[in-house]
Amino acid sequence: MPDNITYTRVDAFYEDLFIKEDAHLIHALETSAAKKLPPIAVPPLHGKFLNMLVAMCGAKRVLEIGTLGGYSALCMAKALPDDGKLITLENNPVMLEVAQGNFDFAGEIGDRIELRAGEALETLAQMEEMGEAPFDFIFIDANKPRNPQYIDYAVKFARPGTVIIADNVVRGGDVVDRESSDFSVIGIQKMSDYIANHPDLEATTLQTASAKGLDGMTIVRAK
Ligand code: DHB
Ligand code: MG
Repeated sequence: MPDNITYTRVDAFYEDLFIKEDAHLIHALETSAAKKLPPIAVPPLHGKFLNMLVAMCGAKRVLEIGTLGGYSALCMAKALPDDGKLITLENNPVMLEVAQGNFDFAGEIGDRIELRAGEALETLAQMEEMGEAPFDFIFIDANKPRNPQYIDYAVKFARPGTVIIADNVVRGGDVVDRESSDFSVIGIQKMSDYIANHPDLEATTLQTASAKGLDGMTIVRAK
């Protein structure tokens, strides 16, 4: 069976071919490592995937739940038009500081990004109250046990055609254990059941192998 060493070598092979050197993204990874953020940013090939999806959707308004050090936000913001906007939600003070620094470093790209501090469920409730929807593209990559609530807001904030991506939906295969007591697994399962049973959503899941191991993304389209 292929292992993480193989996945890492394949990542390196395709990163070498398809990932152009980008000072903003390199800076984001370097500052994230220097500040000891968990090394769980999306892999570069997935960041490029998000970038291309935003471009292919022609998205102008993007919402990200879970900023970490801002790597994925920068990947997506690079695909926005000049008048596009990405709102990203984070609660961890160290992550907020690292991410804001990375957005500032990214100049005009960073100017497209608004980092909102606070517990995401509270920020999302405020956003609903303020009528900030709809968004064209929504990336859910935060506290996995809260994914059922996050997907509910994502659907409320969608319009027909909005694309919603949820990261880390495979978790090394643990997702298939319906008896699991892992709150992250349970959160992913509940979110997936919600999506499956929602009449206005269609979805598929891509399993992904990367240097981070086996995982996956669920891709949802609001009908
Ligand atoms: C975890 C979270 C992530 O968003 C990710 O991409 C990988 C791992 C985690 O919580 O373990
Ligand atoms: Mg993730």
